[in-house]
Amino acid sequence: MTSTDLTPAELDADLDLDQLKQLVGLVPYDESTDPFPVTAMDAVVFVVGNATQTAKYYQLAFGMDLVAYSGPETGNKDGKAFVLKAGSARFVISGGVSPQSPLLDHHRKHGDGVADLALEVPDVDKCIEHARKQGAVVLEEPNDVSDEHGTIRRAAIAAYGDTRHTLIDRGGYHGPYLPGFVAATTQVTRPEGHPKRLFQAVDHVVGNVELGRMDEWVGFYNKVMGFVNMAEFIGDDIATDYSALMSKVVANGNHRVKFPLNEPAIAKKKSQIDEFLEFYDGAGAQHIALATNDILRTVDIMRANGVEFLSTPDSYYDDPELRGRIGQVRVPIEELKTRGILVDRDEDGYLLQIFTKPIGDRPTVFYELIERHGSLGFGKGNFKALFEAIEREQERRGNL
Ligand SMILES: [Fe+2]
Repeated sequence: MTSTDLTPAELDADLDLDQLKQLVGLVPYDESTDPFPVTAMDAVVFVVGNATQTAKYYQLAFGMDLVAYSGPETGNKDGKAFVLKAGSARFVISGGVSPQSPLLDHHRKHGDGVADLALEVPDVDKCIEHARKQGAVVLEEPNDVSDEHGTIRRAAIAAYGDTRHTLIDRGGYHGPYLPGFVAATTQVTRPEGHPKRLFQAVDHVVGNVELGRMDEWVGFYNKVMGFVNMAEFIGDDIATDYSALMSKVVANGNHRVKFPLNEPAIAKKKSQIDEFLEFYDGAGAQHIALATNDILRTVDIMRANGVEFLSTPDSYYDDPELRGRIGQVRVPIEELKTRGILVDRDEDGYLLQIFTKPIGDRPTVFYELIERHGSLGFGKGNFKALFEAIEREQERRGNL
């Protein structure tokens, strides 16, 4: 496979290359010179306190389709896992069933969170050999897992906190997810006229790491996984009166996989990153950005489904400087203002984005919806506006 081929998941979702270039900023690259070639995200794997209900939430509120299942009925005595899809985005929602399940220990420590950012790779053994030479912690040695649908080859390495990257070569596999999973279909009936999906792909996943460790993790992705640094860099010049963060972005060769990494910066009051680190009990995945080609419709439907978004002050839209910077976008600014959608622009184009409130009990994991129009950025120009909106919520929780 060359880097500009569509992945099976993308073909399956009827996505094309032009769409993906716009949706996630896909770029061509030469896989043969990459010591750790990565094709795409394979899955975002969550561990939650109640997988049965959380999987329903994603079907009901995020419009995702249930495609596979593993649990006691399929011979998995330890836990349950529900596989959900929207376009090429795949979420796995898992939780402990047996009181002895290690999934319950993960949940006790971190609350609902992302345990694994699984990556699709063409050569598991090559990746692991390189990763080991570069000093990575190998959590699972390369091994084959088979069932009647074929064989996958897999391994896993440790990332920040308790997060891992499982590496999966599914070239020889045709089942609904992984061996041990059975096909499943959603029991949710969609209202008439409901779009096929509310988003098409995972655009990026942000990791929050401890104070002073951002560069160490950027180095990990550079050295161990051959990721390149993207231009966006948030220094301590971007801060509010209350909290601050530093951020750098790494991406795999074709830019399908993009991982911004945040660390708290010293500020007068507690940074939102500190709040995450405290309540997640360590480093972890902070937000998952979902690429959509119609953010207005997606926000309207998700809001009607009960998803809560951060509010944006009217002053954000009325500020003449911002209006000037935004220029012309595809809809009148009033349409964005009524929904609280943010706009950012750089030399390549613009993007529209909005953030949800944390979706679990702890003030940790949340979502972003992003609609790109040429811009390959992450909304740097919106960081200050976003901080202020997040801090209003933080203050209401008494954690500022
Ligand atoms: Fe983001």
